[in-house]
Amino acid sequence: MLIRRETSADAEGIRAVHRAAFAAPAGAPGEQPVEVRLVDALRSDEAWIPGLSLVAVDAGGEVAGHVVCTRARVGAAPALGLGPLGVLPALQRRGVGSALMHAVLGAADALGEPLVVLLGHTGYYPRFGFRPAAGYGIVPPVPEWAAHFQVRTLTTYDPALRGPFGYAEPFNDL
Ligand SMILES: CC(C)(COP(=O)(O)OP(=O)(O)OC[C@H]1O[C@@H](n2cnc3c(N)ncnc32)[C@H](O)[C@@H]1OP(=O)(O)O)[C@@H](O)C(=O)NCCC(=O)NCCS
Repeated sequence: MLIRRETSADAEGIRAVHRAAFAAPAGAPGEQPVEVRLVDALRSDEAWIPGLSLVAVDAGGEVAGHVVCTRARVGAAPALGLGPLGVLPALQRRGVGSALMHAVLGAADALGEPLVVLLGHTGYYPRFGFRPAAGYGIVPPVPEWAAHFQVRTLTTYDPALRGPFGYAEPFNDL
């Protein structure tokens, strides 16, 4: 398994990953998961950062996993929002998700980004250095998210970076 930036040839493979990894919307079993159209909408948005959309590809070149960070804000200051992250179900629990997470955090750090924020499982993300956002004064856009709202500080992080967090616009259209 290799981790690299996505190319234009990967778009359908990325859709297939999120279609398989995530559940259909509640009450609409035949529909595709919202994460599939979210990635496509993000890719067309000004929040897209090409170097922060990474795929895991197997020996045959098939996309097995995908992660993306997009431009977000803490107050008016730039930060990153992470998600979605998905791995093909047949290939889960083999370290692919971890490899994608370490790679995207390293890439974000190398770009000089200060902070990555996500809404996710508190049993999974702390192993990558994520901690409850409340401890950093980062406020989720929806108060009910607080229990799962987490931040990972990077090298250029400054504790003055505090306030309301805003994801890239396509997240608001979910
Ligand atoms: C979450 C996901 C990306 C992890 O990818 P993966 O390749 O299976 O992850 P890894 O093999 O690197 O890590 C597996 C470890 O993560 C744990 N893990 C996976 N999903 C978890 C979850 N939802 N909550 C807690 N732990 C989780 C496993 O228990 C395993 O831990 P262990 O090694 O101690 O047994 C993958 O399971 C997935 O695509 N899930 C569906 C989509 C999803 O929920 N995405 C995240 C949204 S927040």
